[in-house]
Amino acid sequence: MLKMGLVGLGSMGRGHLSVLEQLMADGVDIKLVALCDIDPKAFGKVDATLNLEGMEKADYDFSKYHLYSTVEDMLENEELDLVNVVVPTYEHSTVACKVMNKGIHCLSEKPMALSLAQCQLMIDTAKKNNVRLMIGQCLRFWGEWALLKEFFTTGKLGAPVGGFYYRNGGTPTKDWFLCREKGGGGLFDQHIHDVDMVNYLYGMPKAVSTVGKICIPGSGYDTCATNYIYDENYCIHTENIWVNYEGGFRHGFRADFEEGTVVFDGTKIRAYKKDYSEIVLPDVPQLGGHYPEIKYFVDIIQSGAANTINPPESSMDTIRIALAEMQSADLGGQIVEIK
Ligand SMILES: NC(=O)c1ccc[n+]([C@@H]2O[C@H](COP(=O)([O-])OP(=O)(O)OC[C@H]3O[C@@H](n4cnc5c(N)ncnc54)[C@H](O)[C@@H]3O)[C@@H](O)[C@H]2O)c1
Repeated sequence: MLKMGLVGLGSMGRGHLSVLEQLMADGVDIKLVALCDIDPKAFGKVDATLNLEGMEKADYDFSKYHLYSTVEDMLENEELDLVNVVVPTYEHSTVACKVMNKGIHCLSEKPMALSLAQCQLMIDTAKKNNVRLMIGQCLRFWGEWALLKEFFTTGKLGAPVGGFYYRNGGTPTKDWFLCREKGGGGLFDQHIHDVDMVNYLYGMPKAVSTVGKICIPGSGYDTCATNYIYDENYCIHTENIWVNYEGGFRHGFRADFEEGTVVFDGTKIRAYKKDYSEIVLPDVPQLGGHYPEIKYFVDIIQSGAANTINPPESSMDTIRIALAEMQSADLGGQIVEIK
């Protein structure tokens, strides 16, 4: 059994709490024992009406857990095997390294960090302490994206030709998200999911060209559009916007292959062959990304199996692409090579 802690009980941390309580109820061999947040209000009732992912509840029974206001205190007083780190992005690397330096496995939320140096430090710290590190790039575990990945690995519709990946939603309400130095803006925070998918599905691009607009002063790019350049000349395009006023959050994709097309409009995934006939797809479990992601990490820690889906080195490559996109946007869309 893995004894677990959770650091950061904001919107996403509460989402993790919901998932961990569900995993325990479903008999997964974990026991959440400790929660930590620097803000005492985090252990109270909150307004969860802005919750876009449908994971966070307004109220939890926090009396079941040992509560801490610093991560140092929690690590000093508990014997933990795995800690989920769900603090603001600019603190991911610092907090995750504190956890791993105590010999504890760590699941740290996306984006991995805002610089390659911080990403490398996280990987080196995991190796030095012989613990497992995984970054919460949850789309790799999300039903529709996991099913799409199968078309790439099986080659069922032939070689990839290209695709379009997008997400749009409203503006985050907490200040740190809108500060380029703290959250990386919409490009690093929200768009990173599609960057990670491009990396996961097609491999590393040679270069990128990104145009972006800063609508909120001081923010990273609140809207951005990227083309990815590969030797294979794939036609891949992504778009992200978090100053979108339709209400709600939307994401989806269209992936093109030599022998067909796979489309997800945010509600249902469909696949078509070259003769336009529809392929019958298996039912996709509607669990979101976090439940299968955390379950997978627990499984590979307990079995000792390799992380074949989401190794931290691949999350660092995703940051490498996002940094090139940021640089390209700063240069007005100029092509930036990825080193
Ligand atoms: N995987 C996803 O789909 C997804 C979705 C949303 C957010 N996220 C990521 O999750 C992270 C958290 O986002 P959020 O929306 O919950 O932010 P948030 O601001 O709502 O919550 C962060 C919480 O961390 C606490 N905190 C800050 N520093 C701390 C520290 N050193 N020790 C303990 N607690 C600390 C804050 O008090 C706050 O309660 C971000 O990196 C974000 O990008 C991931």
